[in-house]
Amino acid sequence: MIVINKEHRVFTLHTKNTTYQMKADRHNVLIHTYYGPRVGDCDLSYLVRYADRACAPNPHEAGTDRTYSLDTLPQEYSTCGVGDFRLPSIEVEYPDGSRVADLRLTGWKVERGKYELDGLPFFRGTEGAETLRITLEDPAADLAVELAYGVFEDCDLITRSVQVRNCGSAPVRLRQCASLCLDFQRSDLDLITFDGCHMMERAPSRAPLRSGVQGVGSVRGTSSHQHNPFVVLCDREANENYGLCYGTMLLYSGNFQAQAEASQYDNVRLVMGINPYQFCWTLEPDATFTAPEAALVCSPSGLGQMSRQFHRAIREHLIQDPLRGARRPVLINNWEATYFSFDAEKLADIAKTAAPLGIELFVMDDGWFGKRDDDNSGLGDWVVNHSKLPGGLEALVPRLKELGMSFGIWIEPEMVSEDSDLYREHPDWALRIPGRVPARGRNQLVLDFSRPEVRRRVYGQIKAVLASADVSYVKWDMNRSLSDVWSAALPPQRQGEVFHRYVLGVYEMLDQLRRDFPHILIEGCAGGGGRFDAGMLYYTPQIWCSDNTDAIDRLRIQYGTSFGYPVSAMGAHVSVVPNEENGRITPMETRGVVAMSGTFGYEMDLSAVPQEEQAIIRRQTAFFKEHYDLIQQGDYYRLTDPFQNGPYTAWEQVSPDRREALVSLVFTSLRAAQPFRTLRLKGLDPQQTYQVNGGGSWPGDVLMAAGYPLPMLSGDYQSLQLYLRAL
Ligand code: GLA
Repeated sequence: MIVINKEHRVFTLHTKNTTYQMKADRHNVLIHTYYGPRVGDCDLSYLVRYADRACAPNPHEAGTDRTYSLDTLPQEYSTCGVGDFRLPSIEVEYPDGSRVADLRLTGWKVERGKYELDGLPFFRGTEGAETLRITLEDPAADLAVELAYGVFEDCDLITRSVQVRNCGSAPVRLRQCASLCLDFQRSDLDLITFDGCHMMERAPSRAPLRSGVQGVGSVRGTSSHQHNPFVVLCDREANENYGLCYGTMLLYSGNFQAQAEASQYDNVRLVMGINPYQFCWTLEPDATFTAPEAALVCSPSGLGQMSRQFHRAIREHLIQDPLRGARRPVLINNWEATYFSFDAEKLADIAKTAAPLGIELFVMDDGWFGKRDDDNSGLGDWVVNHSKLPGGLEALVPRLKELGMSFGIWIEPEMVSEDSDLYREHPDWALRIPGRVPARGRNQLVLDFSRPEVRRRVYGQIKAVLASADVSYVKWDMNRSLSDVWSAALPPQRQGEVFHRYVLGVYEMLDQLRRDFPHILIEGCAGGGGRFDAGMLYYTPQIWCSDNTDAIDRLRIQYGTSFGYPVSAMGAHVSVVPNEENGRITPMETRGVVAMSGTFGYEMDLSAVPQEEQAIIRRQTAFFKEHYDLIQQGDYYRLTDPFQNGPYTAWEQVSPDRREALVSLVFTSLRAAQPFRTLRLKGLDPQQTYQVNGGGSWPGDVLMAAGYPLPMLSGDYQSLQLYLRAL
């Protein structure tokens, strides 16, 4: 609900459990007054205090009032160069070389429906949604900044987007344009970021804010394995169940920056948006620039609730129709089974074993096209290799269909191998700086996706392949970071646009693919989880979580990922043991328990799996299908933190009506003389009695307060699933 007090120019946004407020002050500066647990509509600007602070400049119009300074006020969208020395949100370079932004409120309006963005991902509103648009202008320049707000009451989600318009007659250069600025009048907060590397992505890293600027970002052209465009600020004592937590998420898949600054008077400012690194966007007269959308969730009751609100918002408002809510198939992927050496017969062998085990989708990974027998050639030539697949997809897909399986295919459209027809024809289509030899990554170069003709050519070939057979799934991969970023199609003064234009190009092609083949489920991937962000999820409802398929490492990866992203977003597969990445041996049951808390699949040569293991797989797929809604749509509770090195890791899904729950648990360390262990559950209805695994039954309040006694299992990495049904 949006409430505006016109007389005092107070703008209040209410969700079910939270309130967000800003106000235009006497100098038309938009100050941020409050974000926290839901309160009434009262003007909260009494919280903003004024004092004569040394070294804090006063705007000219404040006259002799030395208590009024932009450097000490909580601001809604911070300015630059006019007396606020904290993190700026925007920086504009004018033709005279000045780099400045001073913004004052000039208008606002409320519109029916949640705003949408052109060419960028966004959360989609439902009926009855509203948008608040606030216009700020620079009194000394012809520049207008529009702040748009969307309110999702049920998920306690607020979205923000920013549009800058050059209303003058000369071009200006935008050097920074953040999506989100959030000021707090306190600094006793912890910052949580999600960090890692290829194969160990999104490990939570939590630290109290210290004085100065701290944060994360990416300059790799993707959101990256190393950091994620999702960060949390929370009370120092906040935990899963308790404390005020602010989750902030950027819907963007390229270079980003999220910085928090704790400043001199115990204030904190969080700024998040496109990374200003090598960014410079020329705005011609009348042109606008739109910053990616940012989304905020405030949870007054801990990190768990914050996560559940994001999960719900992503599932219900970010994933687009017709795939929103659509059942995701159990898949078999041939990558770890065959790598590049396969042919139609080998694929058919795997499929023949997979189909009777309850696997529904066959995904043909890398190696099916051009000259591609290893990762040194072929990228860019999206033409079926007929010596591996005689008769093309037209011959292969019906064979799978006969087995009752649907078909999916791997592509890596943004890349080119130097040993490819595409590169021989168009060497200037790869990102490279004139006079320099570009760096290789996985022995491949990056195509200049800022150029429409490059995208057209690649898409044309891929579309023809997809149209040649009944394809129901595409894995869109991207296996290196961007370097040597320079586009042959842009003049020197526009080279600062290439990183962002590249992302817009990727989004445009994904959108085209989605429009041409609306029923195709696209799974994102970037060397595993190198582009796992809400921007991609708008186009690709699931993303391969990590190239690391070891069940025990995955406990940590999926735990960290779950802070921002739902189970239905996390690609997770059972693979062989010893695991190919770390050599660990885990039971087949445990690998299934971990993988089925994601978009479930297998990635191994099933034709070589012994009968006993096939029987386990059959049970796993049946169990997963039976409890599909609970697992994929249920409310997610983290019961333990795998980074604490405790004896086990446990998590739980509870159906929205709380009549069903599934607890999954993996023992990660083993000892003799095991202690008696009891696991306390969460999220149950205290009034209901639940039967556990068809056996004994206990009241919900008892299971939550007193707990469930865990069995003593022996052997490495054993696991357990408890299915609870209300009687
Ligand atoms: C990346 C992906 C893998 C696989 C290979 C194929 O590493 O993350 O899942 O698709 O590429 O080359």
